Amino acid sequence: MSKFIIEGGKKLKGEVEISGSKNAALPLLTASILTDGEVVLHNIPDLSDIRVLIELLEKLGKNITFEKGTVSIKGGDKISTEAPYDLVNKMRASIIVLGPLLAKYNKARVSLPGGCAFGPRPIDLHLKGLEKLGAKITFDHGYVDADTKGLKGNSMVLLGKFGSSVLGTDNIMMAATLAEGETVIQGAACEPECTDLAQMLVKMGADIKGIGTSTLKIRGVGRLNGTEYKVIPDRIETGTFISTALATGGEVNITNCNPWHVQKPLEILKESGAEIHTEDNKIYLESSENLRSFSIKTRPYPGFPTDLQAIFAVLACRAKGSSSLTEGIYPDRFGYVPELIRMGAKIEREESTIVVCGGDRLNGTDVKALDLRAGASLVIAGLIAEGNTYVHNIEHIDRGYEGFEKKLRGLGAEIRRE
Ligand code: EPU
Repeated sequence: MSKFIIEGGKKLKGEVEISGSKNAALPLLTASILTDGEVVLHNIPDLSDIRVLIELLEKLGKNITFEKGTVSIKGGDKISTEAPYDLVNKMRASIIVLGPLLAKYNKARVSLPGGCAFGPRPIDLHLKGLEKLGAKITFDHGYVDADTKGLKGNSMVLLGKFGSSVLGTDNIMMAATLAEGETVIQGAACEPECTDLAQMLVKMGADIKGIGTSTLKIRGVGRLNGTEYKVIPDRIETGTFISTALATGGEVNITNCNPWHVQKPLEILKESGAEIHTEDNKIYLESSENLRSFSIKTRPYPGFPTDLQAIFAVLACRAKGSSSLTEGIYPDRFGYVPELIRMGAKIEREESTIVVCGGDRLNGTDVKALDLRAGASLVIAGLIAEGNTYVHNIEHIDRGYEGFEKKLRGLGAEIRRE
């Protein structure tokens, strides 16, 4: 197990370049299952989650190379349709091989992903959607077995208790591209990552209308072709660097990002007194001197992203006054709170809301990353704390931030891995 050792108190300064989006890249990689042609993807971040999915696709029978941010995927004739526990267990997003395998090969066997560090992560919407398309689903010794005599288009509302599902929408959208007739998905997720997938599928020959909206109309086609495509910048990494720069009181230019994809977080910060300017694919963070408390409720896009909730809680420790952060997607995504309290943060939790009383300095100590975003939030806490912070279990952070400590060091942070 590795850890980060962080010497707090440095104001970050300089320029940082955002990598390709992890959560967009994962479904784009699995879309390669839908074609026998070659798929070439650019701007793929080198992350452990990406490596796990590549390993899974190789196990399914694809030939893959990954060099300097470009992944090339070939093959498909000798495919296996089983996604085993040892890989799905490492990354629950592996469930998005289910829709494409079923659409292309009429069957799939995928290990059930189970829960995660921030509560239950059901897949009922994925299964409901596939059943609507004519799949027969059974459960066998911890696996989902799906088969069909040929998927057929249908209409469905894909909404759960907490709204739309990102990977659920991806799974059904991919399955519907090769189903017979028209599929209409109401309640589709509108996250930029889903839009990116839809756009790539269209480039492969799919017929999808309503891209970027909550109603998708997909007319099935006989086959999809290979393609070449560039993944969008990572909006969660962008939000993480925005929060890091402002929390340390630094001046940072973020490049190769899409400011539109972080519009809601930027709006909240500007209203709270942060000086921020945007231009095309750049964000300039100029001052957080007058940052006041803020109020956030996480919601599906274009609302405030749940993946930035923990990250903004650290920023709230720095803002003047009491901020409130309410989780509208994963009510229990607060595992990092006791760790921040150990660093001296003043946080109270009531059900799915935390109130952060900001203004005081945090103190460095040993803390543990429980998941990816919680881990990143502890790194930011370490950067603004007095003394040294030791963030343990940083394998979680490697799942989703490309070259995190290198990028932070480039901005003047004192952080090293041990
Ligand atoms: N849900 C259901 N049934 C389902 C699927 C989801 O009830 O079948 C519920 C979930 O429990 C949750 C809500 O619907 O309350 C939304 O979950 P969603 O399905 O959208 O999550 P996901 O697609 O599994 C992706 C991201 C997550 C991100 C969420 C929400 C990927 C690989 N993962 O997960 O990212 O938090 O959308 O935006 O795209 C991360 O990157 O750290 C991360 C966890």
